[in-house]
Amino acid sequence: MTTETQSMIELQTRDAAIEEIVARLGVRAERGRRFAELTSLKVGGAIDWVLSPATEEEAAAVVAELERAQIPWRVLGAGSNVLADDAEHHYVVVSMREVKGVMRFEGERVTVSAGYSLPRLCIEAARRGLAGIEGLGGIPGTVGGALWMNAGAYGHEIGTVVETVRVARGGKVVDVPGSEVKWDYRHTSFQEGELLLGATLHLRPDEPAHIITRMAEVKRKRMDSQPHGARSAGCFFKNPPGTSLSTGKLIDELGMKGQQRGGATVSPVHANFIVTEGEDARAADALALAEEIRERIRRERGVELEYEVEIWRSNEQAATTDGQSETQSARTETENEQHNESKDVQEETRC
Ligand code: EPU
Repeated sequence: MTTETQSMIELQTRDAAIEEIVARLGVRAERGRRFAELTSLKVGGAIDWVLSPATEEEAAAVVAELERAQIPWRVLGAGSNVLADDAEHHYVVVSMREVKGVMRFEGERVTVSAGYSLPRLCIEAARRGLAGIEGLGGIPGTVGGALWMNAGAYGHEIGTVVETVRVARGGKVVDVPGSEVKWDYRHTSFQEGELLLGATLHLRPDEPAHIITRMAEVKRKRMDSQPHGARSAGCFFKNPPGTSLSTGKLIDELGMKGQQRGGATVSPVHANFIVTEGEDARAADALALAEEIRERIRRERGVELEYEVEIWRSNEQAATTDGQSETQSARTETENEQHNESKDVQEETRC
């Protein structure tokens, strides 16, 4: 039997197992979707299966069943921080977009599901006179995505206000205290294979008018300094950790604004944004441009840039049964070295 025939048979067996899970749990399932439709960069290849649970409990059950059947999966929120390559992705995408039923205010706390829109949550909190997340108002993601990567902007980071996170474990919804999570710059101690279902945030009372004014100020700053209406994944690289350097400034100083590779361009507004344009834009264009930037910054500034966006490669294994990632992302060799060095301390495996 050729390798090709063997992998076709494996995929057929897997498909039958997924069909059985889908029928038993009654979860919404789609085939034939593409990352180009599901991510803000609007590039990326075909996805074998997209499963869209409707509630936190259903999401926990779905991933438990996938794990039991040893079917690799990855979780996607709004797709606003993901660049998936152009090939066929043979894992299940668990979309959290529909898990947005819970949004409950109680005193200074708000309990919200992972699929809820972060900008909408910020507006709702401001109207109720609750401060602490108004800087995050313009981040076009879901609450789950923001928790996963400790999203931050304009002096606010979501991790600082998290009281508890709800995580799927063994098919159940489990509360994890925010104090047990390591909230770093655009990175947390959550592990690949852990599905975040929602959170309770503890906010600070303030005058709604004051919070709304601050939100408007942040919006103005963002409109002035970042591209809007363009297809992007936000900042492409992290700012170099432990320094006061801005990656956008470094790229700008090399004169790379406006530089193009196929359908991908270094934004003329903010150099740490890669924007895509046109039907023919490919993930490969954005990746080639990103690597060109990294190479020049390495050579000319001696700085090793780390991706801030998650790069999802079709030829890498997604999360599997043991809750760990085999190889989850485009972590670079240097990042891998840094990762291995800090592994003992951090015990983290995500990208
Ligand atoms: N700058 C340039 N040229 C550019 C871009 C920036 O000279 O093309 C300069 C600015 O003039 C400023 C400095 O660099 O003096 C810093 O720029 P900015 O204020 O835009 O902040 P940033 O460090 O580039 C970070 C986050 C953003 C977040 C803003 C505001 C990262 C990688 N980026 O950007 O987050 O919105 O601060 O808090 O941490 C994201 O996470 O996707 C993101 C966009």
